[in-house]
Amino acid sequence: MDASQVAQVTDMMYALRNPAGVPTYPIIFIGLGVLTFALHILFVQLMLGTSAITIFGAFKDDAKWRRLAAAMLEISKVSVSVAIVIGVAPLLFVQVVYDPHWYTSNVLSANWVIGFIIILIFAYWAMYAYYFMNSKEKDKTKEPKGKIWMLVSLALMLVVGFIMHSLTSQILHPELWKEWYLQNGVLDYSGSKLHANNLWRFAFFISMAIPVTGGMLVTYRRFKMVREDADHEYLNWAASVGKKWIKVGSVISAALYVAWMLTIPETAGDFATSFWGIIGGVMVLFYAIWAQVRLNGEAMFCSYMALPMALVIGLVVAISREMLRYGILDGFFGYDFMDYKIVMDWYSTGMFFLTFAIVGGSVLAYYLTIAWKVGQTVGVYTPSPFVNRLGTIALWILAIWTLQFFVVGFYVWAQ
Ligand code: HEM
Repeated sequence: MDASQVAQVTDMMYALRNPAGVPTYPIIFIGLGVLTFALHILFVQLMLGTSAITIFGAFKDDAKWRRLAAAMLEISKVSVSVAIVIGVAPLLFVQVVYDPHWYTSNVLSANWVIGFIIILIFAYWAMYAYYFMNSKEKDKTKEPKGKIWMLVSLALMLVVGFIMHSLTSQILHPELWKEWYLQNGVLDYSGSKLHANNLWRFAFFISMAIPVTGGMLVTYRRFKMVREDADHEYLNWAASVGKKWIKVGSVISAALYVAWMLTIPETAGDFATSFWGIIGGVMVLFYAIWAQVRLNGEAMFCSYMALPMALVIGLVVAISREMLRYGILDGFFGYDFMDYKIVMDWYSTGMFFLTFAIVGGSVLAYYLTIAWKVGQTVGVYTPSPFVNRLGTIALWILAIWTLQFFVVGFYVWAQ
């Protein structure tokens, strides 16, 4: 591409930008986008890995694997919900600062964007179909029914992930948007094609399900071992499978990361050998070394660190991934999200962070405390007065928040 062609692409991107501007500093949107993407992909990986264990255990005629499969199905069900809910957050942030890119990519593949939701619903239904077919069975070592549904669920989840991957890849090629829209001189309004992908990049993000789920298995043992009815032999076995998954999985993922870096678009220049290009892969490999050194023997304390470690590593990878996007769009095409027009709105910015910290914090603290205690209690769990008070506080905070929402809304409306 010559300089005038690049300039045309740059102008096109700026022309597509929302003239209304953004309500706070663009860097805040990017920061939150990176953070919430790291959380999204962590739960996606947990969901994929625990689904894979569910399937493996269902097909393997082995009591321990069958038990583990049943336990991991519970985690997979929750992880899908969390992955979907947390997936909305990076979507909101990316569409604010990269609106020309996100919407163009979505319109170019509109059928797939709508199909995404339908496929996801079927994937979720298939998982629940499998769950309901087997939830009444007390003996978890028996061969489960309807294994095909779990296979269907995992396959559809992967299709959903591939659609997301493709939309993200299309963002990185603004120079090709017009070509995709105008195929052989004919405008293509259909939105029926996914135009770009990088299978190494996709494989990398999916493969991280192996070490992340390994971290889950190690944590699972640590969490369950304090129960009076704990079966230590089974739990130790589960943790040893987990450690192996962290070590082997991280090496596989690091290799796929290198393959991704070797195949990034030419417009990324020398990103692969830059600090952010290298650190992502190094951190993934570091997980294997950490597991080898810190998860030795009983490693009671570090067991709980296995998942936060995975999140920190995921966060570094998420920053690298964002730097790659910035490197291409700003570095090559001269489109800088940082120069977005700012129409400062302190109330909504403050409100966002307060909601996040206080409303989200108190409600989550209550739910997580309950979930934690229930998981470690044999029989029926009765909350302590402190936990009950936590619940009451959470309800009050929610009520006050809802009230202020309407009061401010009506006040603004009446102006
Ligand atoms: C449940 C199945 C899902 C899977 C397997 C999945 C997988 C993925 C993967 C692999 C990526 C990384 C793509 C890349 O950078 O190459 C990604 C990114 C993303 N996903 Fe998901 N995802 C799922 C569901 C969702 C849902 C339901 C939402 C939103 C409602 C969502 C929102 C996002 C967003 C916003 C990104 C980042 C886009 C960007 O930065 O350009 N995902 N997802």
